[in-house]
Amino acid sequence: MSKQDVEAAEVVASGDGLDRVEAPVTWRTYAMCVFASFGGIFFGYDSGYIGGVQGMNYFIHMIDGPNATALKGSESSLIVSILSAGTFVGALVAGDFADYFGRRVTIILGCLIFIIGVILQTASAGLGLLVGRRVVAGLGVGFVSAIIILYMSEIAPKKVRGAIVSGYQFCITIGILLAACVTYATQNFTTSSSYRIPIGIQMLWALILAIGLMFLPESPRYYVKKGKVEEARIALGRVRGQDPTSHYIEAELAEIRANHEYELRVIPQTGYWGSWLMCFSGSFGSASSNLRKTILGITLQMMQQWTGVNFVFYYSTVFLKGTGAISNPFLMSLIFTLVNVLSTPLSFWFVERFGRRSMLLWGAVGMTICEFIVAIIGVTVGFNKTHMEGDATIANNISAVNAQIAFIAIYIFFFATTWGPGAWVLIGEIFPLSIRSRGVGLSTSSNWFWNFVIGYITPYLVGVDHANLQSSIFFLWGSLCATCIAYAYFLVPETKGLTLEQVDQMLNEVSPRKSAAWKPHTTFVGLEEKEKHASA
Ligand code: BGC
Repeated sequence: MSKQDVEAAEVVASGDGLDRVEAPVTWRTYAMCVFASFGGIFFGYDSGYIGGVQGMNYFIHMIDGPNATALKGSESSLIVSILSAGTFVGALVAGDFADYFGRRVTIILGCLIFIIGVILQTASAGLGLLVGRRVVAGLGVGFVSAIIILYMSEIAPKKVRGAIVSGYQFCITIGILLAACVTYATQNFTTSSSYRIPIGIQMLWALILAIGLMFLPESPRYYVKKGKVEEARIALGRVRGQDPTSHYIEAELAEIRANHEYELRVIPQTGYWGSWLMCFSGSFGSASSNLRKTILGITLQMMQQWTGVNFVFYYSTVFLKGTGAISNPFLMSLIFTLVNVLSTPLSFWFVERFGRRSMLLWGAVGMTICEFIVAIIGVTVGFNKTHMEGDATIANNISAVNAQIAFIAIYIFFFATTWGPGAWVLIGEIFPLSIRSRGVGLSTSSNWFWNFVIGYITPYLVGVDHANLQSSIFFLWGSLCATCIAYAYFLVPETKGLTLEQVDQMLNEVSPRKSAAWKPHTTFVGLEEKEKHASA
């Protein structure tokens, strides 16, 4: 037996100080998690391509006739936001599937639904059909976006879990970038291929993910929940790159089981609806109650959407066209997208070095400052001050508009390195196993719900024929980001470096503000031993 194996065996025997020993992270483990993060690509792509398609002349003429120059606000709202309606429902029900059939099978099922939705959308040639079929694809995206987070958080080693789930966000950004590139390439086509190619190509991402997942193991925590201990041992051995009988696997499995059994003992088991109600049990005042965790997950995703990020990704093409300051709005939105992709990898380091709490706190500060600067320049010399030249609206001060664009790019940098990945990382960590799949599903639905609301109302807020806020909409996003600062300070716990079971313990013992200083002091195996001694 190696020295490390002996140490691990002692830990299992003593039930204490589990954090001293854990299996070394292997390349195989990294490879599995990185592959799973691929799911982010079609989340990003599917939400990203629609902004470009809406600005295409062929598409505009197809929907509104040959003389139209832009879609009506109501049409734009519907097309953008309807995807989120499908995803909302998908994410909500996916948790049940994940608990029943397993995380992996549920993701594969999501890919299949998505492929069907994409085939239907590609074949559509009118607003009604396109919208209806986007709902089907949305259902698939909902399944995948919720359950990938669950799967990755459950298989990743604690030391790199934050970085790995941030990899999912990185893939979302690559998806958005790919969408921008494809729509840029097809925008001037004079046939239906201009919009059909960007829609149809997405099938490829779903195929790659579904086929790849067939070769990956199921989440060991799912097997523990199902009482299939031997399967859990084998799956854990595979994800850790260790022999299933090694002491590393023994120690980790013992802790996952003890934690689950502890929860079963303290939380009364009820029927199907009762188990949904369990997500809302306890009082809001206690950080360890399920209610508090569920509200935290739901609001984290809500606040992430309230930062206003999708305003930039969904509407910047259309929005920038309106100033006349930018000769090529497509290229401009491509630049925002590039900033998003290139900054996200920094979060892999931030999330493990500074932790989730500081990351969200300082990210919100950075975003608030940038958004207020954009809004203030807009009402003084920038975006909102225009004149007419013939039929075109032209900004009076092009340099001021350029400065606004630069601050929007810096704002994207802050989002991409903090709230973008941070919200996903945290929702994978804060729920106990008994409600994890539903908790993650509810939180992901909240992301899509708010995505839907923002996608729907934005054209009305900025449209010339409606509220016509122009760039003053950044006052709204800035104020909401300021709320994110207080939110992160009072409500977000630090979960860095802890196993999912230790996160549970930490939430039971301290408030979010004290969580960064909390250290694991006992294990669920240890607690179990103590309870046994006490009752003997
Ligand atoms: C958000 C998406 C957003 C994307 C931008 C994700 O974390 O949930 O709504 O479009 O980041 O990178």
